Amino acid sequence: MSQRGWVLGIESSCDETAAAVVARGREIRSSIVESQAPLHAPFGGVVPEVAGRSHLRAILPVVERALEQAGARLEDLDAIAVTSRPGLIGSLLVGLSAAKALAWSRGLPLVCADHIEAHIYSGAMEYPAERAGPWPCAALVVSGGHTSLYQARSPTEVELVASTLDDAAGEAFDKVAHLLGLGYPGGPAVARLADKGDPARIEFPRYRPRTRPGELPPRIAPFSFSGLKTSVLYHLRGQDALAPTPAPSAIEGAADVAASFQEAVVDALVGPTLEAARSLGLERVLVVGGVACNRRLREKMGAAARAAGMEAWFPSPAYCTDNAAMVAGLGWHLLEAGLASELDADASPRSEARQRAAGARAHAAAARNPSPQG
Ligand code: KG4
Ligand code: ZN
Repeated sequence: MSQRGWVLGIESSCDETAAAVVARGREIRSSIVESQAPLHAPFGGVVPEVAGRSHLRAILPVVERALEQAGARLEDLDAIAVTSRPGLIGSLLVGLSAAKALAWSRGLPLVCADHIEAHIYSGAMEYPAERAGPWPCAALVVSGGHTSLYQARSPTEVELVASTLDDAAGEAFDKVAHLLGLGYPGGPAVARLADKGDPARIEFPRYRPRTRPGELPPRIAPFSFSGLKTSVLYHLRGQDALAPTPAPSAIEGAADVAASFQEAVVDALVGPTLEAARSLGLERVLVVGGVACNRRLREKMGAAARAAGMEAWFPSPAYCTDNAAMVAGLGWHLLEAGLASELDADASPRSEARQRAAGARAHAAAARNPSPQG
């Protein structure tokens, strides 16, 4: 690896085609994100077939723009990092194939990154350099596909501690946006409408795990958003299950619905996350993923963390949503940790964050307690 430590990152796991050049895991020299949202909007969600074909058209021009913006030629790079899991398999394969071809043709190391671990790393890139990184911390990943809490010991050692029982928070935003006729993607539109509404107007449910008398609550509670989503649906069409959902134009007080729904999502994320961080003995929480753009979540998580003597840290919005800078940044750390991939690496729809953490824990335990046989 040269002194420059320039890594080209490629991201194509869902509906953004992205490429970026990041120096030594931190200095973002370029970040290009081409969103497919307008292509999927007529369908109200991501259509996998459309996503795969669109990545294929966009991938090379996006890589070229990222190199140009960074003032880099292919021969200046030290490695190619790419998201290989989790995500839509047809979309992942486009980015992975492009990364393999570039790595093979230039004789560069290929590094496969987990999209979830890359989101978590997005919380470290802008963290003040003099504080030597946000580790260890609790990392809340809140996006369209994921709502999970991780214990992160370093960029490459993350362990899943709690997840959603059903929907992701971003998916709930997208579904409620659909009910309110706000289009896709729904999160930003619901948030904009919520700014005009009263968050205390409707008392939507906040999920808390139910425990029987005498039973201990789970030490770290999972999240759940499907009950909240159903509650918004019944609020809009009344208790008659056969009644049609009113047309968006006929919904009275839509801004109050949006604000009250957003408040319920935010409360359902803030309390359990800080409780979990406390019970894990962690003083810092990173909040990452598309929903981390949400201003109300940023305000309430920040205030509640300060009140609890903790720190809440959010990446700037451009690095909350899908981007390749987080992939290039994490890629550099994976390379430094000797975790480069072979050219026959495969894409996978599943995250491996948990498996890698389990492996790292076993390794650490073995180092602490070497067996008598050596
Ligand atoms: O991380 P991301 O770009 O893609 C996934 O990996 O899923 O997250 C996209 C999700 C969408 O569900 C979108 O509605 C949501 O993030 N989102 C927001 C906001 N901006 C994006 N949700 C609430 N408030 C926002 N301001
Ligand atoms: Zn994402």
